[in-house]
Amino acid sequence: MDRQIALSAIRYNERKQGQETVLTTVIDGKQVAASVIETVKAATSALDKQSGVKTGLAVVIVGDDPASHAYVNSKGKMAKECGFKSVQHTLPAETTQEELAALVATLNSDPSIHGILVQLPLPKHLKSELIIQSILPEKDVDGLHVVNAGKLATGDLETGLVSCTPAGAMVFVRRTHGEDLSGLNAVVIGRSNLFGKPMAQLLLNANATVTIAHSRTKDLPAVCRNADILVAAVGRPEMVRSDWVKPGATVIDVGINRIPAPEKGEGKTRLVGDVAFEDAAKVAAVITPVPGGVGPMTIAMLMANTVIAAHRAAGQTPPTF
Ligand code: GUN
Repeated sequence: MDRQIALSAIRYNERKQGQETVLTTVIDGKQVAASVIETVKAATSALDKQSGVKTGLAVVIVGDDPASHAYVNSKGKMAKECGFKSVQHTLPAETTQEELAALVATLNSDPSIHGILVQLPLPKHLKSELIIQSILPEKDVDGLHVVNAGKLATGDLETGLVSCTPAGAMVFVRRTHGEDLSGLNAVVIGRSNLFGKPMAQLLLNANATVTIAHSRTKDLPAVCRNADILVAAVGRPEMVRSDWVKPGATVIDVGINRIPAPEKGEGKTRLVGDVAFEDAAKVAAVITPVPGGVGPMTIAMLMANTVIAAHRAAGQTPPTF
């Protein structure tokens, strides 16, 4: 196999390949995320030394949803760990559209801030789309602005910013298969603007032959069995089984589903992906677990996007991930 595995950490599982028993690589998302963070730290410090620019990230949160606060806290903590100027704006649930827009405008014109993230979902009375589209594209470290979506669609990765989850999944693909996916079939299950579409465009940009499958696709298992790289983002617990997987494929699971786990006790739950992990791992050559796969990459890629944005603002060549 000429597969070039350069993952920073792997675990092994046995699987059958014809008569032989071979090893399946299980990607350790925490380890890969840690290697991305190391690159971010080094680039942050080099930019400060060379240009006197301290990378700045502003995170805006409106209301008091506990899960959103937990996410925002970990983003702020990681930003500090990377050596960023980290600013958090916590606004009350009653904040008006105008007040939130005014804060975004202030952050847009603040040269010490290179990345702006407005935590979603916003309270129902606020129009999220208007707010997201008011962030300057070069500070849109979530990659949600239509300018960034358009740059990705036209293959301009030099000046655009890519949303964090597909960017993280793509790091796994690159570390498994290298930069050039020529001749490989990739299937993305899911067509959302947040993940499926940008993921498909990243794969296409790397020369893969890409199929976007979704709930209306005819014979989904047969389509998936054609995939050398299978990416699942449908939100259906353990939908992808071993008979959907081409032997030797790379399987990336973007699903996070909480399901009942009576075996752990009454009322207990556990997290599973869109892939039936143990089953699919018998056939795949490389697979990501849930939790511990794509999940840890999202925050790491937010930090990566922020240090990229800071380099561009300072006229310096950004690091690659
Ligand atoms: N809420 C949950 N995940 C995200 C994310 O990646 N970006 C933003 N802005 N909000 C979120």
